[in-house]
Amino acid sequence: MVDIRTSFVGLPLESPVIVSSSGLTRSIDRARSLVEAGAGAVVLKSLFEEQILMHTGHLIAHNDYPEAEDYISAYVRTEAVDTYLSYVREAKEKLGVPVIASINCRGKESWFEFAEQVRGAGADALEVNIMRLETDLYFDPVATEQTYIDIVQGLRGTGLPIIVKLSRQHTALPALVDKLRASGAAAVTLFNRTYQIDIDLEREQFVGGEVFSHQGDFTETLRYTGLIVGLVPGVEVAASTGIYTWQELTKSLLAGAQVGQMCTAIYKQGAQAIRESLRGLQMWMQEHGYENIEELRGRLSYSAVPDPTLFERMQFMKYFSMRNN
Ligand SMILES: Cc1cc2nc3c(=O)[nH]c(=O)nc-3n(C[C@H](O)[C@H](O)[C@H](O)COP(=O)(O)O)c2cc1C
Repeated sequence: MVDIRTSFVGLPLESPVIVSSSGLTRSIDRARSLVEAGAGAVVLKSLFEEQILMHTGHLIAHNDYPEAEDYISAYVRTEAVDTYLSYVREAKEKLGVPVIASINCRGKESWFEFAEQVRGAGADALEVNIMRLETDLYFDPVATEQTYIDIVQGLRGTGLPIIVKLSRQHTALPALVDKLRASGAAAVTLFNRTYQIDIDLEREQFVGGEVFSHQGDFTETLRYTGLIVGLVPGVEVAASTGIYTWQELTKSLLAGAQVGQMCTAIYKQGAQAIRESLRGLQMWMQEHGYENIEELRGRLSYSAVPDPTLFERMQFMKYFSMRNN
């Protein structure tokens, strides 16, 4: 039998599949069933500071005593954070695999405060879910990147392995990832999925869009996984978005990913999605003569292939699409 054990940010994993941060990992029982199906680690549902602030605002709006505002803010925050910390502790106690906490903050200080607390609760690593959409026309784009770097530099002090979950919307991703690496990030998760919006044509109103990814979204994950692995040594990549079957998982590893994160596929097919992906990977490894993951990882990364310009081709120029013309 081939060996599919691996490691991620220094943590030993029984398999290269990680369950993404989502409602799938909000319940310990559900997470346990996914570990039993073969997941090597889990990323817990994110602790969103914005949600806490919204809840606080709602309570304050319905409270007749303005002097109680500070008390309500502190109470709601402590309550939400404590609930999350108990969840981290329970996951550590019951899951038997590395537990990665996930946070998304608004204020700079909150990142460090939450990170210290999840470290204290026993999380093995921290995925920071940073997504910003700047709407200020005078905003300096360099300042956005600096925010990411400052957060990572600040979190280095916790001693936890830091994984930065990024969105696709970055101008020069390799350069950003290299700065994050230099600032202390152990890995990047490529990519997060933005909350989608849509228009209801009947009501002529904006509504929430599709929650789940599409299998075709994987091609961008693949391109950037191969690019980052080849161009930025010293940082691991968790491939994420569009990993539905063993094929996407295997391709991610060939491009150089350390692990593949799965979310939508599990929502749609249950724990079977993990089982089938691992079985398919093992069969493919056997057929292709690989005994362990290290032998195949990165064989098709940007720095390993003879013609890496393939990674850089973005345009459908006639020259490149000749075969399909
Ligand atoms: C219902 C749902 C809830 C999610 N919640 C979170 C979250 O709390 N934190 C986070 O970082 N990502 C969250 N995500 C994004 C996923 O972790 C993942 O990055 C995204 O779905 C792309 O992966 P996929 O193609 O395997 O679904 C959520 C996704 C879904 C579908």
